[in-house]
Amino acid sequence: MPNLFPSSLPLVVHKLTLLRSITTEPRKFRELVREIATLLTYEATLDLATQTKPVTTPLAKMVGVELNEQVGLVPILRAGLGMVEGVWELLPTAEVWHIGLFRDERTLKPVEYYNKLPVEPTVSVCLVLDPMLATGGSAVATVDILKRWGVKKIKFIGIIGAPEGIALMQQAHPAVPIHLAAVDERLNEHGYILPGLGDAGDRQFGTG
Ligand code: PRP
Ligand code: URA
Repeated sequence: MPNLFPSSLPLVVHKLTLLRSITTEPRKFRELVREIATLLTYEATLDLATQTKPVTTPLAKMVGVELNEQVGLVPILRAGLGMVEGVWELLPTAEVWHIGLFRDERTLKPVEYYNKLPVEPTVSVCLVLDPMLATGGSAVATVDILKRWGVKKIKFIGIIGAPEGIALMQQAHPAVPIHLAAVDERLNEHGYILPGLGDAGDRQFGTG
């Protein structure tokens, strides 16, 4: 599929197996979410723009390189929160703009409850963070919000995606690259990803 990037990094697939396990308790689960987010960020930022920058080493002057993008991290509350620290490991100056959405349990449609984006965009590229791309409703709604905000370059970084959610994103936002640790089989009748990892928010925060 165009613009779909499932990771094949050995560290990612190894950590994902630990993350999936029902025996992994919240502390370890949070650590793994953070670490996988860091590894996926490496893959998702390979095409960030750069520009030259003079630098003085202890021995000489030279022309180095710096990033030429202002990056915004957009975690979808709650579960996306756990990915922020991992992405910040590599992009410590990134701004963080939270979007609060929850899935209505009956309709599975996203319901917006938090959005404090300023009027004008303050970043040139947004990385949307959410471990689970299930029906795709939450991701599509978040990208809708960011496009209305005026951001042109948007990428989605998740951990597990279902074919249904990937298809919805690619239909609604075909230019948005989707970076994942894995693509799973399907959704169950409650909209949960199979085999998946269960409820990513509950497993991070010890709820449910
Ligand atoms: C989960 C997950 C995504 C959403 C994915 O959040 O973190 O945001 O479901 O489902 P979708 O692709 O079908 O929209 P949830 O609504 O359970 O909220 P939470 O993070 O607060 O637990
Ligand atoms: N949200 C989750 O946390 N897990 C799923 O499998 C689907 C949506």
